[in-house]
Amino acid sequence: MDDRILEQSLIEGEAREELSLRPLYLSQYIGQDTIKRNLQIFIDAAKMREEPLDHVILHGPPGLGKTTLSNIIAHEMNVNIRTTAGPAIERAGDLAAILSSLEPGDVLFIDEIHRLPRIVEEILYSAMEDYFIDVVIGQGDEARSIRIDLPPFTLVGATTRFGSLSAPLRDRFGIQLRLEYYSNDALQTIVERTADIFDVKIDETSAYELARRSRGTPRIANRLLRRVRDFSMVKGEASISLETTNDALRVLEVDEEGLDPIDHKVMTTIIDTYGGGPVGLETVAVSIGEEVVTLIDVYEPYLIQRGFLQRTPRGREATAKSYDYFKRHKHIEDNES
Ligand code: ADE
Repeated sequence: MDDRILEQSLIEGEAREELSLRPLYLSQYIGQDTIKRNLQIFIDAAKMREEPLDHVILHGPPGLGKTTLSNIIAHEMNVNIRTTAGPAIERAGDLAAILSSLEPGDVLFIDEIHRLPRIVEEILYSAMEDYFIDVVIGQGDEARSIRIDLPPFTLVGATTRFGSLSAPLRDRFGIQLRLEYYSNDALQTIVERTADIFDVKIDETSAYELARRSRGTPRIANRLLRRVRDFSMVKGEASISLETTNDALRVLEVDEEGLDPIDHKVMTTIIDTYGGGPVGLETVAVSIGEEVVTLIDVYEPYLIQRGFLQRTPRGREATAKSYDYFKRHKHIEDNES
């Protein structure tokens, strides 16, 4: 994908800076209150029992803090974390190597766990349930299976597609946590915390405006703050003003609702080309030249959450709110005369 300002995955170079923004303890983590409350209890209980934490699956749209939470889990449990991603583990042997290098109690974080190859995923079952793996060595007549015992560990998986996990994998996660879009208030606090770390001043109103237009996503809020900071600095402001915030967001093509040009294209295509729907998402994707997975993971969840888009059994439909917002008039079919 290109480097659109609302891109929800990490842009190169941002990753390092983001590390310093990331809270290390649950108490420093803003928002996601239900998850925090539950996780704190599970962590405290596991520590009282002197056992590793049960396996955790974190799911929800990108940019909401799944990686941050996995690091917090390791930190709170006082253990090391090994981080990898589904597509990076191609063969069973790759996973076997990682698993057998873990220390007792360690956290293994697998991002995008829905993209693990099937043969690799199947190895995880016994590893998660009974802390051993069977590895096949040799080929043909020489092939045999050897059992490798593993230290007790915690698997933390993250996915934007909970529904794509196979049932056997899903069921082996004792702790299942769904991250929600952040409230404007929580995002405002995050913007203010980040501004503090950047050592820039921003007034409450501007911080709220940034929060409100960040699609409920801390990663986007922090990215917009970086850019607004640039505009403000070049203007020579002592503190980021609302005027600069609004100007910067206009230049960055982030609208009043936090929608970007691709959101606009999705909605206006459904309305103008497909009569408001219902239309298949694949058709929309082809029409606007975006990938279906991007629409599913990044665009659709927020458009649905904000009430612009509806998922129906026959396809996607634009809502009345959408017609209003994009200043379209619904064409009512008149079959009665
Ligand atoms: N930075 C990004 N996300 C955050 C969160 N949820 N809490 C605190 N700081 C953050």
